[in-house]
Amino acid sequence: MAKKVTVVGAGFYGSTTAQRLAEYDLFDTVVLTDIVEGKPEGLALDLNQSRPIEGFETKVIGKTTGTDGSGYEVIEGSDVVIVTAGMPRKPGMSRMDLLEVNAKIVRGVAQSVARYAPESVVIVVSNPLDEMTALTQLATGFPRQRVMGQAGMLDTARFSHFVAEALAVPVASVRTLTLGSHGDTMVPVPSQCTVNGKPLTELLPAEKIEELVERTRNGGAEVVALLKTGSAYYAPSAAAARMARAVAEDSGAVLPVCAWVDGEYGISGVYLGVEAEIGAAGVRRVVETPLTDDERAALHDAAEAVRAKQSDVAA
Ligand SMILES: NC(=O)c1ccc[n+]([C@@H]2O[C@H](COP(=O)([O-])OP(=O)(O)OC[C@H]3O[C@@H](n4cnc5c(N)ncnc54)[C@H](O)[C@@H]3O)[C@@H](O)[C@H]2O)c1
Repeated sequence: MAKKVTVVGAGFYGSTTAQRLAEYDLFDTVVLTDIVEGKPEGLALDLNQSRPIEGFETKVIGKTTGTDGSGYEVIEGSDVVIVTAGMPRKPGMSRMDLLEVNAKIVRGVAQSVARYAPESVVIVVSNPLDEMTALTQLATGFPRQRVMGQAGMLDTARFSHFVAEALAVPVASVRTLTLGSHGDTMVPVPSQCTVNGKPLTELLPAEKIEELVERTRNGGAEVVALLKTGSAYYAPSAAAARMARAVAEDSGAVLPVCAWVDGEYGISGVYLGVEAEIGAAGVRRVVETPLTDDERAALHDAAEAVRAKQSDVAA
């Protein structure tokens, strides 16, 4: 079946995501949009010209859209829409500093997505992530399972990379897990982390694990401080593209995502970072992982912190 994916926002995150999606050679069409006149068209032309070299048939369509929703006909029939529109952080900024400006952008984008791609699964990446995901669900009116956010895959990837470096082992042998929010209340789950199947807690002292957790928690800020002009996009785009792929392939992959939680872990009524089975309809189900008492308490704290902020956005 013909597959179509749209990436809204052709900045660093959006353009690298479009590239990864096109190079999968899985979709018939990748649509890239932005409000900056000519930018998505130019990037699409450039990406299409890489097709003979990279060897993919997917066509990339670039389209300038207006904040009034003009141009959005191009997204019609999209199976998946990835929302990257919005400001990134500058050094010293927290993700919450972006709330006001990005809420306005994301609300407008979500309304246009609901109008032109009413059957799509939406993956939100704009920050602050948990709040923008909740806002997108409200503004689209989509079933909650069809709206999710990308954060956990990135935080987990960062954690795995740091563990692999610390132990000098292949990254493929490392499995880590983070839950909670994409921010200060990220909840690392050391009890579920393994290296070649061995518990991480047996391979590294608790202080070293805590140091890696702290670096993971500040992983985004570390990149922002080095770049000075914007935030990370290679690892983030890899994460969003993989989520879109799981939807397109209806794969049932269990991935850490920001999903609506309804009773799992004794938590209800909030978008939160959890593991979930992803398929064509979005989140098939949230998958509960065994947690220690401390990890469970931290997840409850994270849920309450994001719940308060998500209701501010909804107001
Ligand atoms: N969830 C995550 O893990 C994660 C990771 C990295 C970045 N981010 C977030 O992703 C967002 C994008 O980051 P970036 O590095 O691509 O920033 P960027 O500044 O490079 O690109 C943002 C793009 O959005 C466009 N835009 C603004 N308003 C728009 C609208 N109404 N419709 C369509 N496009 C619009 C801008 O013109 C710009 O091209 C930021 O909010 C950033 O904080 C999230």
